[in-house]
Amino acid sequence: MAEILVNGGNRLQGEIPVSGAKNAALPLMAVTLLTAEPVTLRNCPDLHDISTLANLLRGLGSEVDASALGLASADALPVLRLHTPEIISIRAPYELVSQMRASILVLGPLVARMGRAEVSLPGGCAIGSRPVDLHLLGLEALGAHITLRDGYVFAETAHGGKARLQGAKITFPKVSVGATENVVMAATLAEGRTEVLNAAQEPEIVDLCQCLIAMGAQISGVGTSHLIIDGVENLGGVTHQVVADRIEAGTFAVAAAITGGELILKNGRLDHLGSLVRVLAEAGTVCAEISGGIHVASTVDRPHAVNVTTQPYPGFPTDLQAQTMSLMVVADGSAVLTETIFENRYMHVPELIRMGANIEIDGRIAVVRGVDRLYGAPVKASDLRASASLILAGLVATGETRLSDIHHLDRGYERIEEKLRGVGATIERHDGTDG
Ligand code: UD1
Repeated sequence: MAEILVNGGNRLQGEIPVSGAKNAALPLMAVTLLTAEPVTLRNCPDLHDISTLANLLRGLGSEVDASALGLASADALPVLRLHTPEIISIRAPYELVSQMRASILVLGPLVARMGRAEVSLPGGCAIGSRPVDLHLLGLEALGAHITLRDGYVFAETAHGGKARLQGAKITFPKVSVGATENVVMAATLAEGRTEVLNAAQEPEIVDLCQCLIAMGAQISGVGTSHLIIDGVENLGGVTHQVVADRIEAGTFAVAAAITGGELILKNGRLDHLGSLVRVLAEAGTVCAEISGGIHVASTVDRPHAVNVTTQPYPGFPTDLQAQTMSLMVVADGSAVLTETIFENRYMHVPELIRMGANIEIDGRIAVVRGVDRLYGAPVKASDLRASASLILAGLVATGETRLSDIHHLDRGYERIEEKLRGVGATIERHDGTDG
């Protein structure tokens, strides 16, 4: 069984490159279904979730060339090439969709281009029930007839799938990143104007809109909660650079804070991390924009406790809650963390407690009383960001932390052990093949 071993106690110092954002790359890959011309994604991360979606797209008819992924060097960005001259299947099967919830992102583009789609209901991280009702509400408003049968979503435009989607005014009752992305992609090829109110405003959605605009889409209000999309008949090919991963950058910023260290996050975007920067500043770690990245430096011997509530962007990201909790676990004082996005996102807590943390959970609220010291222990990753929080805790724990079930980590962090080793951490991967 593959594991990551961390020996805590080192102060991190140096430069870490930040990869392209997984959560931007996934919708950008789905964009290939909207055009018969080639789509090239520069700075695409080499991650398990990317290969999962690549396999799904291949089944729908896309040619996906991932041979230049994972080859990042000082002067060459990793590249993913996608081309879907023809869609050969409109069915996204359970076997692939169940591996990753973001597979639902093919639904909007398929209906928009083909008039029909059959997409299995998704799986993904076990961090809550995570329904897809908002995706379906949006596509129904655009004129798709939706039925749920045998665990699949069947979507069809009018006249048996022959009609185009029709622009509409959609007000989401709740902010959803994925539903906003699905609807925006579908609306680019709809007939007439679509208005999306209460749209998600995450930087990954801005990146998606910018890519679609470069392909010929007409979108205004980008970066706000009110998007206006005027449908066009065709979209062209594009070469687009994937935005830097703010969650990966944020994870490394917390690594600097928790080890009392100083890091340069190369290519990181400070403007996408405002809410984390404020929390870290209160905790005693200063982040500043520098040319080509972010400078992060701890100014205290022990972090101060800070209360954190997760919110849709520009609020504090749920995807950094677990990592920030690890920081609060060793802080001076008590912190209250409130998770408002997902109902089951404290699965790292029992593992942190096994390392010596003092945390009490009551529903969506976690009260963290800072302890002087954590102790290394065997711990299990339960989801992607929980895995990262356990590595962060391992970086300050006394002794060895052994993290198992690391396939969760590999879904979203590119070579994390190499990157952390490069700035002074004692961390390695055991592939488990030698028994
Ligand atoms: C995306 C991110 C994920 C992040 C999350 C919230 C990707 C690939 N994943 O996930 O890393 O944690 O945003 O920032 O970009 N909801 C519904 N009905 C729906 C859809 C969502 O009730 O149809 C609920 C969810 O259960 C959750 C909330 O809305 O409580 C937000 O979810 P959403 O923003 O849709 O998250 P994802 O797009 O799945």
